[in-house]
Amino acid sequence: MKLSVIGTGYLGATHAAAMAELGHEVLGVDIDETKVARLAAGQVPFYEPGLAEFLAKHVASGALRFGTSVAEAGEFADLHFVCVGTPQKAGEYAADLTYVNAAFGTLVQHVRPGAVLVGKSTVPVGTAARLASAVRDAGAALVWNPEFLREGFAIEDTLRPDRIVIGAEDETARRVLEEAYAPIIATGIPVVLTDFPTAELVKVAANSFLATKISFINAMAEVCEATGADVTQLATAIGHDSRIGNKFLRAGLGFGGGCLPKDIRAFMARAGELGVDQAVSFLKNIDEINMRRRARTVDLAREMCDGSLAGRRVAVLGAAFKPESDDIRDSPALDVALATQLQGAAVRVYDPQAMGNAKDSYPTLAYSPTALEACADADVVLHLTEWSEFRSLSPDDLAAVVRERNIVDGRSVLDPAMWRAAGWHFRALGRP
Ligand code: UGA
Repeated sequence: MKLSVIGTGYLGATHAAAMAELGHEVLGVDIDETKVARLAAGQVPFYEPGLAEFLAKHVASGALRFGTSVAEAGEFADLHFVCVGTPQKAGEYAADLTYVNAAFGTLVQHVRPGAVLVGKSTVPVGTAARLASAVRDAGAALVWNPEFLREGFAIEDTLRPDRIVIGAEDETARRVLEEAYAPIIATGIPVVLTDFPTAELVKVAANSFLATKISFINAMAEVCEATGADVTQLATAIGHDSRIGNKFLRAGLGFGGGCLPKDIRAFMARAGELGVDQAVSFLKNIDEINMRRRARTVDLAREMCDGSLAGRRVAVLGAAFKPESDDIRDSPALDVALATQLQGAAVRVYDPQAMGNAKDSYPTLAYSPTALEACADADVVLHLTEWSEFRSLSPDDLAAVVRERNIVDGRSVLDPAMWRAAGWHFRALGRP
């Protein structure tokens, strides 16, 4: 099939390449000319394992190309995926729908009658119903098909998703989308066919549940800290109950990124508009527990420096919001780095992939080209993003360069016994 993908950020670039992998002819469209030029040259403007090679392969074969014209997309294809971002509005909880409205607004002017427009962006419930009439007026049909890919696993999650959710009013349009996904559906993964509001809600409900799981275990970490219990053992033990499961129960610095934080806030804002704010008011607690973990990490660093960070040197290992990503949006690691700096510490940051983004957005922090250099003369080392590189750091090598052997493990993946045996003062969130 011929299809277009409007918006070639994280979601769109991956989706476009994955659709080419399924055998389709794909045109990716974005308003950002620099981004389009890089993608057209087979380069990916962000870090995602395997994506650059995957995308370059399909650009080279001619199955995937990129441009800046929605009019061209309208002529090229009768199936269009809208993958633009819905960031949090500045100073508000609500989602900013500027890009979604602009993408659909332009598309409806250029699509042919009978075209199918597929919304993949994460939107407040009710958006699809609002957009559908303009799409119908253009003689086209709308389908809502939320995306569940994780950064770091983007290709895998797109080609082998846990489920496909399709919200549609129009049978023919729904079948067109099923045809596009036929090779994926043929593998037997569940397909949930539903209406617009349910499809939109599935996405925010899933992210809210994931955020709740993380904050639940982090709330337990707070209780563990007050009682001398160990949250990692607690998580393992409750996770053995198959009704609870052991995934997304890693206690630590909590969630960040461009999705979970803004999605739970946008959900609260939308629920307020719908008059059901009480139903999701617990998400406020989820958000607060999450933010408290950042403050607690700064407290631990300060406790290790005898009660004051003023004039101390702090090494921060990690800047990305999670490993295998260079995304620093709402990064807990950088939040902690800034907070320690505000308390008077000299902070040096190292991250295997996110240094460029971090330097651009946080120019007041200092950066080092290696983990060891970031730790040179440090009074305390903060391990804040669990890259595998940090797990393999040798406590002895680090001990040789730091001023004081103090380390806070914000992600509970380092082995306390090993670090303590090498003479380190080791603290971790939720652990004795
Ligand atoms: C999240 C969802 O997992 C995806 O399903 C969804 O498609 C995506 O948002 C989206 O809405 O686009 P992502 O933001 O890539 O994906 O990251 P996650 O892997 O969910 O991790 C989010 C944050 O939670 C990270 O900061 C991670 O370090 C943290 N986390 C995760 C924990 O603190 N503990 C855990 O046990 C798991």
